[in-house]
Amino acid sequence: MMNSQNKNAVALVTGASSGIGRDIAIVLSKMGYEVIITARDEVRLNETKSRLKGKAHIIVTDLKDRSACYKLYETANEIGEGNIEVLVNNAGFGLFGEFTKSDLDTELNMIDTNITALHILTKLFIKDMVEKNSGYILNVASSAGFMPGPLMATYYSTKAYVLRLSQSISRELKNSGSNVYIGALCPGPVDTNFNNTANVRFALKGLKSMDVAEYAVKNMFKRKTVIVPGISMKLGKFGLCFLPDNLITKIAYNIQHRKG
Ligand SMILES: NC(=O)c1ccc[n+]([C@@H]2O[C@H](COP(=O)([O-])OP(=O)(O)OC[C@H]3O[C@@H](n4cnc5c(N)ncnc54)[C@H](OP(=O)(O)O)[C@@H]3O)[C@@H](O)[C@H]2O)c1
Repeated sequence: MMNSQNKNAVALVTGASSGIGRDIAIVLSKMGYEVIITARDEVRLNETKSRLKGKAHIIVTDLKDRSACYKLYETANEIGEGNIEVLVNNAGFGLFGEFTKSDLDTELNMIDTNITALHILTKLFIKDMVEKNSGYILNVASSAGFMPGPLMATYYSTKAYVLRLSQSISRELKNSGSNVYIGALCPGPVDTNFNNTANVRFALKGLKSMDVAEYAVKNMFKRKTVIVPGISMKLGKFGLCFLPDNLITKIAYNIQHRKG
């Protein structure tokens, strides 16, 4: 079952060497997409590739470099012969710690990966999609984007950017009558390598990465703008509407404190 009318439709998934990105690549591949997967770790990308059904390609790249983002756009279009129908901006990572003590270089790398790369790729691909009046962009934000995140301040702030950017562009596209889709995936804790990289332990039980990937792809094709997997996160998001910011920030600090 493929959503597209185009038999040569290609999907590009960033951060597909593990976790949510790897599983989204597997889901899209099962649907019949030719998939281009990208990340820094070639060995793990090859492991992902071995689990894909149809045609698949690997691009090893470090998205924290702006020039790598432009190059990825060119290379993916060469491989996909201009038929990139789905872009999943998933690559990203977090860091735990008090802002006054956490490492500035790591945080700047995080901003470059979680925000700048996603922004560049969205901008480049969306122009082509708007011209064709078709295409899907799924930006992986987080439930962290719904609130302030003391002790993970930079990470939460990057995800608020991803969420707000995606919602804003989505409204512009709808108001201009475009058929192009953009949305944000906002999971709570998911069992992946994220914890090891960020040096945290989740306070809540994590969802299975494959469940999140299947839910994300299904709702992307239903054109849902903000995709929140799991009932507890949906309820949490709803509950946030009734609490003052100051209280939300206090609660968030206590939750984060338990993760350290
Ligand atoms: N796990 C959660 O609880 C959770 C919850 C909400 C949102 N998210 C978001 O979900 C996304 C995927 O994370 P995950 O949980 O699946 O964690 P993960 O297993 O650590 O996967 C992160 C992916 O991003 C790639 N990546 C990181 N830095 C990169 C860079 N500079 N250039 C290119 N690729 C890079 C990694 O590949 P290489 O290391 O091979 O480069 C890896 O494939 C992230 O944006 C994360 O913020 C995760």
